[in-house]
Amino acid sequence: MVEEESHGGPVANAVFDYDAELRRYQPLLREAFDVRADDHVLDIGCGAGRTTRESARLATGGGALGVDVSAAMVARARELAAAEGLDNVRFEQADAQVHPFPSERFTLGTSRFGTMFFADPVAAFTNIGRALRPGGRLVQLVWQDSGEQEWVAAIQGALAGRDPAPVPPAAGGPFSLADPATVDGVLTAAGFTDVSVNDVREPVYYGADADAAADAVLALRMASEAFVRFDAGEAERALDRLRAVMAGHSTVDGVWFDSRAWLVTARR
Ligand SMILES: C[S@@+](CC[C@H](N)C(=O)[O-])C[C@H]1O[C@@H](n2cnc3c(N)ncnc32)[C@H](O)[C@@H]1O
Repeated sequence: MVEEESHGGPVANAVFDYDAELRRYQPLLREAFDVRADDHVLDIGCGAGRTTRESARLATGGGALGVDVSAAMVARARELAAAEGLDNVRFEQADAQVHPFPSERFTLGTSRFGTMFFADPVAAFTNIGRALRPGGRLVQLVWQDSGEQEWVAAIQGALAGRDPAPVPPAAGGPFSLADPATVDGVLTAAGFTDVSVNDVREPVYYGADADAAADAVLALRMASEAFVRFDAGEAERALDRLRAVMAGHSTVDGVWFDSRAWLVTARR
């Protein structure tokens, strides 16, 4: 998929390809989702819908709904599903925190890094829980602490030109569900049971070579937010540092960094 994360900076229209970045997580997610033929799947923060489409292909007697707050992502997801000829998948532009989902409609809730951005996580997961049938499963992948992420240290270090400060696990940010006790507390308060938080580690991919990887990073919010503060000289130096860091992680298979996530499962 491509992501519309760009907010300015030297590659103002750059896009980020999450499907490429997260490809090594896909097999373990497929196993954890364990989609059955009769499942009705709700994919939260679906982006361009890679995981939604995969679930729809397996839920041959059911189907999948992907929701994302971004209109551009939903449009892209619809295009990709139509190109594949899938007729049991739908996408809606919706804020999963408050969207009036049909009550007890879905047997399985899924998310690949789409549930960390809620301003009020308990309210959001309560809303999602209402959409799941009693006994339905919720399976999601969320980032562990920013300090555990080689990709964060590399990118932020390159942007800052020094060792980066840890990103605080603020509500609404990518590391908001990094603390297992928080995850357990939020999901329990939202009415879920059998919460399980499992350590998973896979490398993430940024591009075929250092230049491609640096360009990809520029599409990320953390880069564009830094670049809008730089003058021309600082921007050039930051780009040089970014390319050097990417070159340092370049392999014959492209540019990779270690990452750590939590695979979180729970039952409604
Ligand atoms: C890191 S991307 C992951 C996208 C997708 N799950 C994937 O793996 O390709 C996070 C996605 O969550 C979406 N998102 C953030 N907050 C949301 C909300 N409150 N409701 C629905 N989608 C949301 C964003 O628009 C973005 O597409």
